[in-house]
Amino acid sequence: MRFAGKVALVTGGGGGLGLSIAESLGREGAAIAILDANPAGVEAGLTTLHGAGVTARGQVVDVRDSAAVHTAVDAIAADLGRIDILIAAAGGSLGTPRDLEDISPADLDMVIDVNIKGTYHCSAACVPHMRAAGGGSIVTFSSIGGRSTSPVTGIPYAAAKAGILGLTRRLAREVGPDNIRVNAIAPGLFLTGRLQGMFDAMSEHDRTEVLDSIPLRRMPQISECVDPVLFLASDQSSYITGAVLDVNGGRFMAG
Ligand SMILES: NC(=O)c1ccc[n+]([C@@H]2O[C@H](COP(=O)([O-])OP(=O)(O)OC[C@H]3O[C@@H](n4cnc5c(N)ncnc54)[C@H](O)[C@@H]3O)[C@@H](O)[C@H]2O)c1
Repeated sequence: MRFAGKVALVTGGGGGLGLSIAESLGREGAAIAILDANPAGVEAGLTTLHGAGVTARGQVVDVRDSAAVHTAVDAIAADLGRIDILIAAAGGSLGTPRDLEDISPADLDMVIDVNIKGTYHCSAACVPHMRAAGGGSIVTFSSIGGRSTSPVTGIPYAAAKAGILGLTRRLAREVGPDNIRVNAIAPGLFLTGRLQGMFDAMSEHDRTEVLDSIPLRRMPQISECVDPVLFLASDQSSYITGAVLDVNGGRFMAG
């Protein structure tokens, strides 16, 4: 019960990695608030969390909307009493094309806005509540696509996920004196529901090529991303801030 008495806000908590993280935080004692743009995701997430006996709230919010984010975060803090943890998982390449000639200015704006500005707005809204609580932990979401050159995602995603690392380090410097830690997770390919279908549809040859690029030679379990996120969120990482944790089976190794 590492998170007993804590309140954790999880963006993108209406599905994928965000919901798995929310469930695990809840199982270890945290009260959870999920923020997600997808109303059906919020409803399904709340059903899952309540079914597991977790104290949970949900808000339908687009993280690009600064005013809406601040309103939702303030309401959650008033309702649940505090905010200790922010998991900023809302993001992705969001169905945008990979290749330069296919990417529109609107695609570029969406990927930059959801990933970078969304992480910024949610962090900015949570920091005052963490200061009031005497400290906190923020986990941002980079990607192997922001650490290296992914063959799957394009320039907007690479730029956004690399940008999140600059945001993470600068914010960590600014809020460190308030006992707020800020770290990034950089996952490799994790087959959440959305991506499992894509992987299954690939040819045997392409799947082998993916696996051959991973020194551990296997696809990960979802829990193998969730556990490192919980480590960064917990007091077990109490002297780690401004760091990036690569969780990719060795596919990218930082120098
Ligand atoms: N799954 C992977 O292999 C992988 C790898 C590297 C990085 N990541 C990162 O991890 C995070 C979660 O990925 P996932 O695979 O679980 O994605 P997902 O698409 O399954 O879930 C993302 C969630 O974010 C929500 N969302 C999207 N835009 C939003 C917005 N504007 N405002 C609020 N919510 C919004 C979606 O509704 C969805 O519930 C993302 O930031 C992604 O880039 C994932």
